[in-house]
Amino acid sequence: MGRLIGIDFGTTNCSMAYLDQGKPKVILDKDRYKLVPSVVYYYKKNEEVRLMVGRAARSKFVENPFCTIHSIKRFIGKSFEMEEVQQAQERYFYIIEKDEKAVSHQQNIMIKIHEYDLAITPVEIATYVFKYLKQVAESFLSEPVDEVVITMPTTFQTRYAAAIRQVAENVGFNVVGMLTETKATAFAFGYANREDQTIAGDHTIAVYDLGGGTFDFSIFRRVPGGYEEIATLGESWLGGDDFDYTIMNYLIREFKNSTRNKRFADGKVYKDGITITNKDILRAIRTEAEKAKMALSETETTLIHVSKVIPEIDPAVDLNLKLSRDVLEYVVSDLIEKTLTIALDALENGHTLNPKLKLDALLLVGGQSRMPRIKQRLRDTFGDLIFDQILPEEAVAMGAAIYGNVLKVVQKRKTQESPA
Ligand SMILES: Nc1ncnc2c1ncn2[C@@H]1O[C@H](COP(=O)(O)OP(=O)(O)OP(=O)(O)O)[C@@H](O)[C@H]1O
Ligand SMILES: [Mg+2]
Repeated sequence: MGRLIGIDFGTTNCSMAYLDQGKPKVILDKDRYKLVPSVVYYYKKNEEVRLMVGRAARSKFVENPFCTIHSIKRFIGKSFEMEEVQQAQERYFYIIEKDEKAVSHQQNIMIKIHEYDLAITPVEIATYVFKYLKQVAESFLSEPVDEVVITMPTTFQTRYAAAIRQVAENVGFNVVGMLTETKATAFAFGYANREDQTIAGDHTIAVYDLGGGTFDFSIFRRVPGGYEEIATLGESWLGGDDFDYTIMNYLIREFKNSTRNKRFADGKVYKDGITITNKDILRAIRTEAEKAKMALSETETTLIHVSKVIPEIDPAVDLNLKLSRDVLEYVVSDLIEKTLTIALDALENGHTLNPKLKLDALLLVGGQSRMPRIKQRLRDTFGDLIFDQILPEEAVAMGAAIYGNVLKVVQKRKTQESPA
């Protein structure tokens, strides 16, 4: 029998972990990266449609966005009619359509790649990602991996769980358990805290998870053998993707302002400025927006450059902008405040159940939570509770591996106790 791993299938990235003599460790790919981008790229070679997955696929986004399928998690278990899916049509570069022949209206989304006459379901795309994850894990561990614990967001749990279980089974995994990403984080905390008991005795913790696509805030109480959820609230359309989109729109607005009342190579004066609409250019701006956002988590200012942004009007014009951390924080402040409102609502729900509820630690997961302004606003709102001994990108997968081990121990005990 093979090994058990924990899988955190994310909107942007996946991570995997296993237990090495009781210690949770992250699985690395052949280039020693901890994260596998949740991206599938379709291409043609010798008249045959082929695909690549992960880091290699992500690098194709700028070159060929219509064939680079990312953020697929947002569509798992969802129906075409849902408002958020409609929003995605505007925001993503690949084509999302309704599958008229779908058996269930709860899963009727199709991704179309017209270039290759392909229509693929989100479950099929996720299956390719899982197949790749299996290969990465087995090559890293040098043994078969057949049992998995998979994490999921707190919203749409039932539909999501059924679909993602199907995905895992499609590649030959036996799903021994599923738990929410926030609960997995609580298990990772339990392990990290066990070493030095930073938080001693009974405790209540909150998990703020802001990834690429989803925001979740959950509160847990320590109970024998694990954590019990007291309150949870989430938003399945609030994550780093939305930060990037907002920054991209800001850059477009700034560019438009800078072109007002100016004459360009086509001889015209643009009284209201020029709106960039070319999809290839928008894509490049979006990629730069994300890069700038990440850079500004480390530095105070960064330069954004995208060349030839209005080729039809004036091929000599580039987008050049200096973006400061202050401006970035201002531009995305509504998104940050929205997460805080959800967090406070969850806390209020917890207080309704238990008026004495008091948080002992706040755990931050999801890459977007690395933004300094978010940490600051969380400190302003909840006090100095951030527990920084878990890493935002790996805690969920580690927690899933730990939880899997707990399930196995319980199962073993039951088998031993039950009379023959
Ligand atoms: N240093 C950073 N500063 C700001 N944002 C960051 C940083 N590093 C990563 N991000 C953002 O974090 C997001 C990805 O986070 P993560 O990999 O945790 O998401 P995910 O687990 O794939 O998504 P989800 O949990 O929502 O399904 C991206 O939007 C990325 O731009
Ligand atoms: Mg995540």
